[in-house]
Order: sequence, then C-alpha cells, then structure tokens
Amino acid sequence: MAHPVRGWNTWNNYQFNITEDLILRQAQAIVDLNLSHLYNYIVIDDCWMSPERSLSNELQADSNSFPNGMKSIADKVHDLGLKIGLYTSIGETTCEGLPASHGYYYLDAATISGWGFDFLKVDTCGLTREQMFNPAPFYEQMGVALKAQERDIVYNVCNWGIWEPWIFAGDFAASWRTTTDIFPTFWRVLQIVDYSESLAPFSKPGHYNDLDMLEVGVSGTLFNWEWTPKIRPLTHVESKTHLSLWAIMNSPIVLGLNLASPDLDLKLVEILSNEKLLNLQADPIQRPARRQLVKTEGPLIAPTSLFTGFLTMLPHFCFSPLGDCTYVEIWTKQLSHDALAVMVFNRGSSKIRDVKVSLKEDLHYSCENLIVEDVWNSDFSYDDELYTLTASKVAPQGSTVFILTPSSGICSYNGIQHIDANNFKIDSNRLVLLLLLWFISLRFIKS
Ligand code: GAL
Repeated sequence: MAHPVRGWNTWNNYQFNITEDLILRQAQAIVDLNLSHLYNYIVIDDCWMSPERSLSNELQADSNSFPNGMKSIADKVHDLGLKIGLYTSIGETTCEGLPASHGYYYLDAATISGWGFDFLKVDTCGLTREQMFNPAPFYEQMGVALKAQERDIVYNVCNWGIWEPWIFAGDFAASWRTTTDIFPTFWRVLQIVDYSESLAPFSKPGHYNDLDMLEVGVSGTLFNWEWTPKIRPLTHVESKTHLSLWAIMNSPIVLGLNLASPDLDLKLVEILSNEKLLNLQADPIQRPARRQLVKTEGPLIAPTSLFTGFLTMLPHFCFSPLGDCTYVEIWTKQLSHDALAVMVFNRGSSKIRDVKVSLKEDLHYSCENLIVEDVWNSDFSYDDELYTLTASKVAPQGSTVFILTPSSGICSYNGIQHIDANNFKIDSNRLVLLLLLWFISLRFIKS
C-alpha cells in the first residue's frame, strides 16, 4: 500500500450503537461528499457480533443489528467502490465482552476473508493476566492466519502501545496503536502526539504508528467515561492541527464523525478534503515527521512524553487554566527529491503569533530556488535571500504546513535534530502540581 489506511470507523461516535443501516449511510455519505478517493475504508468496530459463535464455531453477526449478515454489508460497501474493515480481539472476548478470536485465529481469519473484508483491527482485551504480559505470539499467529487467506487483509494491531507493538508487530502488521484511547479534547490529541513522536523511527513504508482514530467533529466525554460531562467537539483550528499532525506523522487517518448528519459542518468536510496535505503520506520515502524545533517565550512546561505508558492519560498542562505554554513547534517531514514539509504549530493557548523560521539555522536545510506552498493557503512570506519563512498570524493551537520543493540548484539537508523530552526544563511549580495530580489520579483509579 502506498500510504497508511484512511477511512471511517464506527467506534468514536457510536460505540455499541451500530447497525447495518447506519454504516451504509456513512459509506454512502463518503461517496456523496466526494471523499471516497481520500477515505476509502469503512471499518466496523466492536459490537457487530452475536454473543454466541455458530454451531461450527464461526463468529456470526448480531442478528438484530446486522440482519443480512456480514457478507451482505461487505458486498454493499464494495459496490460503492469502498473497502471494508472489521474488529476482533486477540483474547477470548472483545472489550465489550463479546466473542473474540483467541483459539480461533485461523478460523476467524478465514471467515472474515470469506465475507470479503479488507481490513482487520485486532484489540488486546480478553486475555488472561499472564497472556496479557506477552501478547506478541498471539498477534503473530493471527498475522500468519491472515496471510494464509486469499484476500489481502490489512492488519491493524490495537495493543494500546503497551507491550511495544512497534517492535513485536513492526514487520507483520500494517499499523499498531501507540497509546490507549483518544477522546475528543485537544490536550488528549497532543498527549498522543507527544508520546508517539519518539516512535517515529519505527514507522516505515507499509508499517505505521497508529495514533488512533480522529476526533474531528466528534463530541464525547472525558476519558470516554460515560458519567463525565459531555465535551465540545474540537474547533476548526484544532481540527486542522489534529489532521495535519496525523498526516505528517504518517498515521492511519480514520474519521469518526457522523458524515450523514443533516447538520454536518461543511467547513469540517472542507478541512478533511485537503488533498495536498493527505498526499504527503503517499510520498515515496514515507518518512514520518519529527518535532525539529521548539521556540519558547516563557517558562516551559513539561510535555506529557515525560510520563509515558499508562500515564499518557494525564492531562497536558498547556491547556490547563494555569497558563499558556508559550511555545511554537516546528515539525519537519522529509520528502523525496530533497523536498521538505514544514509544519508550524502555535502550541500556546492565547496569543496569535507570526512565526519566523530560518531554513538554514533552524532546520539545517539549505536549498536554492525553492518553490514554497502552504497546504492551508494561509498568509506567509518567504525571503529567498535569507532563506527565512514567516508564517503570519498563526492562531493559538493553530498550525500551517508548508511544502518546500527545490526546483534547481544545490540542496543540502542535515537531518533532523530530535527534541528529546529531557531537553525540556520544567517549571518547578507546575511539576509539583503535575505530580500531585498524578498521585490523586492513581488513588482515584485504585479506589
Ligand atoms: C478499545 C480500542 C478502541 C475500541 C474499543 C472497542 O480497546 O482501543 O479503539 O476498538 O476497544 O471496545
């Protein structure tokens, strides 16, 4: 495949409330909104299956929500010119307690292939505690079972970044989740980005870090806990940054918003249709972006990447009422033929900023005769004598993505200087508060 999967998935918006009808309406909407060339996989997540396997042990569709069975929906989605994906878990049950694939990897792979599915997301629920500590052999067995099928099935490992799937599944899976679940707040989006940035070296053509499904246009609850208050959907500015980061980091881009809603925000559709941005994923060398530079103005706040693993559930301080994080990030994604994508991201939460980037000094990129484009058509200027690029009026939490293409002349790029979590100085008051919060949340989780 020439780029990570892009599509739509039921989970973020609908969880267990899914039916054949709902999914077909979303698939039709993708076609009607002219998005099908950009997002072509329709994925049915948890809760499609009946609580019982068949007499011959096959997984079967829930007869209320999928009365015509899974082959029928796969055929209908294919008839729309789209591909279709399904969900199971590597353990005995899915995260919602329904039958999953443990002990039936080959049979389930054959069943799913026989129905005509093109993609399989495999979760980590339903393993015993002992198995949970070493899920790699099970994922590998499922990989072998999928490979043995006649159909090409894209294999997505959903191990929540816990047992280093980028290492154990790096060669056999098309993608692996880097963290626990996303939920629709911008700070959660950034936690995932911070954590996943350092995993960039594991991403390679055909095998990608999966930063989880997009929350653009989805409103949900904090930590996806139903009893917490409803959160507003991301703003347009946040949505653009969310999409841009997923695109340049070469993550699968799987939407979750209700595309068939009569109240669909067409501005969001316009944002999601940014073909120039999405095409960056198809660049032949398939390098994921790195955070190359952080420009600061005030006291720094620790990025959550300092608190990795399970603790990625901690809120990011940039968006706490405690203050602005006052920094601008410059991300770079190396492209083929010496071209470079540069994302300027105003991570602060209050000031609109003009951001000046010296290509030579800041990015170690010195190429003559550059063609400079901005995929979001925002205001910028480029000084081709000083090699400086200035993005104008970047909104708080906003960003823009430039593509720099050398048209002729000499070109040199000195690689990416990786900003490591340890390079950040931590403002001590905030650190104390962060530790306090961490302590409280651990106690809270235990009780
Ligand atoms: C989680 C997974 C989610 C969703 C859910 C379904 O483990 O991370 O993306 O698939 O299970 O139960």
